[in-house]
Amino acid sequence: MKILLASPIDPAAHERLQRHHDVRGLNGTDLRAASADREVVVLRSGVLLSEDVLCGADALRLVVRAGSGVDNIDLDCARRRGVRVVRVPGMSAPPVAEFTFALLLSLARNVTLADRLVRTGHWPKPDLGGPLLRGKVLGIVGAGNIGGEVGELAAAWDMEVLGCVAHPSDAVADNLARRGIRLCGFDEVVTSADFVTLHVPLDESTQHMIDAAVLERMRPGSLLVNVARGGVVDEKALYEALVDSSTVAGAALDVHETEGEGTVPALAELPNVVLTPHIGAMALDSQRLIGERVVDLVHAFARGSFDEEVRDGEHVV
Ligand code: MLT
Repeated sequence: MKILLASPIDPAAHERLQRHHDVRGLNGTDLRAASADREVVVLRSGVLLSEDVLCGADALRLVVRAGSGVDNIDLDCARRRGVRVVRVPGMSAPPVAEFTFALLLSLARNVTLADRLVRTGHWPKPDLGGPLLRGKVLGIVGAGNIGGEVGELAAAWDMEVLGCVAHPSDAVADNLARRGIRLCGFDEVVTSADFVTLHVPLDESTQHMIDAAVLERMRPGSLLVNVARGGVVDEKALYEALVDSSTVAGAALDVHETEGEGTVPALAELPNVVLTPHIGAMALDSQRLIGERVVDLVHAFARGSFDEEVRDGEHVV
């Protein structure tokens, strides 16, 4: 098949695809031109498969999202054009959950700030204290695949864990309770937590879900971690809340309203902020597993057994 790898994937998976198919990367070409004759596009975040791109790709039959979020794909347009869209969601949960803890600890204990200071000859030990995670309340916005894993890790750290979901039910509450997470409403999560972590997909209902009004209701001294999508947090409002510092006291963001090479978020001016370049899922072990699944899905499509082999949660369109 003619495949466009619009984002880099695990090198072993790339090689396997190359052995059996005509594989091309972007190599500086724009996405519309590069996908024009392709039957399959494989992509991660940072690449926008818009209506314009999809309409220019007449041969396109399959889009494989090597990860979970599909906010960068025009799904309605794909549906209209008969393009199948599939994602690889499960394997991103453990790396993003672990990375959430990396950010929580970085933020709570000033790890990245301390590193910056030591590198410039400073040793302000008395100013670098921070809270324990143990015994504190963690509020999970979006206690699904990834948020649920975060909750399990937090429960093992002796945190009190609250979580909210888009569609609460008794079954969801029981399932979360078994993992040490108490299901409650969004408002309770954001107003009672010492640490709030975000794990919702980006759509109309979650765009700027964390806005000035919500930030104002967060606990004094609380910390916010966003590993979901940049648009979930109103970054301008977050900047103002952090400067004001009467409620939220620090934030760690792996995802940003604007991402990519050459972008410096305004939040970079503030010391109580940790910023990383959307690397939550970048555990190499997980990328290897995601790569293997991408290859299996492409091969299943090529031999006509896609519908039998696609798993629950993978099929999008
Ligand atoms: C995902 O949705 O799986 C993550 O954002 C990882 C990525 O593709 O960059």
